[in-house]
Amino acid sequence: MCQRYTEITFEERIIKDFDWLDQMGNELFNISGRVILITGGTGILGGSMTEYLLGEGAKVVLLGQTGAKVESKMEQLKKYPDVMGFAGNVLDRDFLEKVKDDVVGTWGKLDVLINAAGGNLPGAVIGEGQTIFDLRMDDFRKVSELNLDGSVVPSLVFGKQMANQGRGCILNISSMAATRALTRVVGYSVSKAAIDNFTKWMATELALKFGEGLRVNAIAPGFFISNQNRNLLLKEDGSYTDRGKTIIANTPMKRFGKADELHGAVHWLISDAASFVTGAIIPIDGGFNAFSGV
Ligand SMILES: NC(=O)c1ccc[n+]([C@@H]2O[C@H](COP(=O)([O-])OP(=O)(O)OC[C@H]3O[C@@H](n4cnc5c(N)ncnc54)[C@H](O)[C@@H]3O)[C@@H](O)[C@H]2O)c1
Repeated sequence: MCQRYTEITFEERIIKDFDWLDQMGNELFNISGRVILITGGTGILGGSMTEYLLGEGAKVVLLGQTGAKVESKMEQLKKYPDVMGFAGNVLDRDFLEKVKDDVVGTWGKLDVLINAAGGNLPGAVIGEGQTIFDLRMDDFRKVSELNLDGSVVPSLVFGKQMANQGRGCILNISSMAATRALTRVVGYSVSKAAIDNFTKWMATELALKFGEGLRVNAIAPGFFISNQNRNLLLKEDGSYTDRGKTIIANTPMKRFGKADELHGAVHWLISDAASFVTGAIIPIDGGFNAFSGV
């Protein structure tokens, strides 16, 4: 039976409206029981996402590069019942296939892949006083491989599982370096630009050939202090380097991001609330991307 608003007071009506919105919200954003695999789940951003998603009731599989890192992260997460950890290389297809078999054997499905392994390598940075002509191609290749192939290979292995299920979603991690030329980090930048294209390409491929249940998106974080950029952005005493100061000057919010500020967009993109969103790249950057610098 329809509730007639005239039979209740204005205050009661407001409370009922909020209850209804809350229920709608819970349904749209409910990720409880979703099986989510996150590469780089031992890293600063991936680790923060892992804990957030577990808190939302998801079942999380985290992948890290070394056994020691995975063990220590699992120790931090021991209060959560539904978490598995694996150590290995995201470029190793055999390793990923074994993980997939183990996860599907245990939880019966895989709903979400978050490709959070990646980052810069010191050798691929153009040093102070160097130019592009000093670039070492072996380091350039390594950083490109980590950032591009390191998301493509997991997308093939785990995406195939999702295609078989007719449902699933992939979230890549792009960067401000993909669309703006950030000095010094050439290998990282071109591989993140390739991630943007791969996100759109894969979104198109999966929706066209496997249906609307398959979605692929990316977030493009601005500047968050992590293991790979700490030395570029902060001095030993914690004050900003010249590069750090330039970034802050070009960020309208005048600060670096905090890892938990990615959670809202991650949650939205992997939930049913984003059911018509695919091929999107969402900046989370305190306005860096929007600002002309003037
Ligand atoms: N921190 C930032 O400001 C920032 C900004 C934009 C994008 N990103 C991107 O976010 C992602 C996470 O970065 P982060 O800042 O948390 O860095 P991080 O160094 O803290 O984490 C990176 C993770 O990737 C894992 N990893 C690296 N190589 C691997 C390999 N070959 N196989 C398996 N795992 C491997 C590491 O073990 C680690 O867990 C990266 O793709 C990075 O490029 C970071």
